[in-house]
Amino acid sequence: MSFMDMKTKLAGLMAQCLTDTWQDAQGLPTAEEIRGLLAVPPDPKMGDYALPVFRLAKALRMPTAKIATTVVEKWSHEDVARAEAVNGYVNFFLNRVNFAAETLESVLKAGENYGSSDMGNGKTICLDYSSINIAKRFHIGHLSTTMIGHSLRRIYDFLGYKTVGINHLGDWGTQFGKMICAYKLWGNEEEVEKGGVNELVRLYVKFHEEAEKDPALDDQGRAWFKKIEDGDKEAMRIFNWFKALTLRDTERVYKLLGVTFDSYAGESFYNDKMDRVINELKEKNLLTISEGASIVDLSEDNMSPCIILRSDGATLYATRDLAAAIYRHDTYHFDKCLYVVAYQQDLHFRQIFRVLEKMGYEWAKDCVHVAFGMISYEGQALSTRKGHVVYLEDLLNKAVEKAREIIEEKSPNLPNKDEVARQVGVGAVVYFDLHNDRNKDIDFRWERALNFDGETGPYVQYTHARCCSVLRKAEAFAAAEPDYSVITDDEAQDVLMLISHFPQVVRKAMEQSEPSMITRHTTQLAQAYNKYYFEHRIMDESDPVGTAARVNLTRAVRDVIKTGLYLIGVEAPERM
Ligand code: ARG
Repeated sequence: MSFMDMKTKLAGLMAQCLTDTWQDAQGLPTAEEIRGLLAVPPDPKMGDYALPVFRLAKALRMPTAKIATTVVEKWSHEDVARAEAVNGYVNFFLNRVNFAAETLESVLKAGENYGSSDMGNGKTICLDYSSINIAKRFHIGHLSTTMIGHSLRRIYDFLGYKTVGINHLGDWGTQFGKMICAYKLWGNEEEVEKGGVNELVRLYVKFHEEAEKDPALDDQGRAWFKKIEDGDKEAMRIFNWFKALTLRDTERVYKLLGVTFDSYAGESFYNDKMDRVINELKEKNLLTISEGASIVDLSEDNMSPCIILRSDGATLYATRDLAAAIYRHDTYHFDKCLYVVAYQQDLHFRQIFRVLEKMGYEWAKDCVHVAFGMISYEGQALSTRKGHVVYLEDLLNKAVEKAREIIEEKSPNLPNKDEVARQVGVGAVVYFDLHNDRNKDIDFRWERALNFDGETGPYVQYTHARCCSVLRKAEAFAAAEPDYSVITDDEAQDVLMLISHFPQVVRKAMEQSEPSMITRHTTQLAQAYNKYYFEHRIMDESDPVGTAARVNLTRAVRDVIKTGLYLIGVEAPERM
């Protein structure tokens, strides 16, 4: 599906106009470049789009004013009602009837696929997200990686790419030996089965308390880990069971969020794939010994060395990530591999990507760390050490509960309150997480997440439900050929502009790995539509052709909001 939005169309016409007018000029901007220059003026009285002509003055070797007036003189196209030269700009006033008709018709034709594309056909994107740690509870520190990754995956899918969602489980390290040891000493099967991750955490904490008194325990823990490394049957049975328990607990959260993965190949999966990396590093003369450890020196790149083997021969997180990157490239032949991981791991990924490059893998440039900021809760930093943790499942359940209370109050007669409460509660949390630039830190606040009036998930969902309600009522009206000349007012124009920019916003969100662009755009559309809704009567029995146009506008808004929410992983109830 490809749809040319008005901005792109205008840029093409403009480029054509320039080459027609100045046939010999060198270095004229391309349509793409003009598209980048076209801006939406702050005041609609200054036009729908403005082109800063002074940016062309150099290529044309002509004074700005002369270029602007020439362009205005030469300009003629049915889609532009008029062009004006003002202070170095050419302001374009669209033919609003044509613009409304074209924009709405393309949305109505495509429906919820409006904005999708086949640009990614034949290309594969690996996304490493969520990547939880085994035997730890899923806390809100893992919300952003989960939701940014999930959203990016939907965006890439929507643009025609093949995506591979990978949960790179943190399931390797001596702590698992200690846990088995603790289980053997103080645990019992029934309680672990019942308590799940909570019980594993309890055993692990106990291990540390006891090991302070009796350091010999640490050796026992290490011995158990060695058994895991060697694939000992008993050790593997318990270890895999711990893993299954953790996944069972997290699966509930993923289900609530609607998040899925294609692969759970985590750190342990690479246990037998690291030798290859180590040998290859040796062959390529990249490995040096420093204080007994094997490292890749990165001082030329102003980075601390990447440690491959500790002095006791143990592999590290980085060793496994090198093996993982190579494995993913061999297996999926990715065009890009995105790592959605907190910014604290910035150095780690720069080291990994640089080592891959030094190994001669030119695809290292296709590996991208999609970093994001920290999350705090009601103004308090989270800290496992200080006991200030918020579990994601608790947060989501509480959100659903609160949403339920609000719905009970606002719409007591709603038939499927439970389902809507889940959609609104979970949606509020997800929206909150994805509405700021990902690099910013976030402070989760209930009163901001669940407010039905602010820039929130419930507000946007409510607007969608409002459109659905208008459309239900419209069914009673006889069908008529829409007269788009009734939606040329400024409020309608705002709505239409936002709709027409949507496809481009989705592409930008993909290019910059920034789902929040879609969140904000969808919010603006909801705001613009509400403004329109309050200032105009949609259904008017005495005016069927006008009604048809306004209903079509409503339908397009509904489709675009629904798609926008879908792309950030938020559901859109039809009534609320
Ligand atoms: N499990 C790690 C953590 O919770 C994140 C892993 C990210 N992915 C990777 N390939 N290193 O911090």
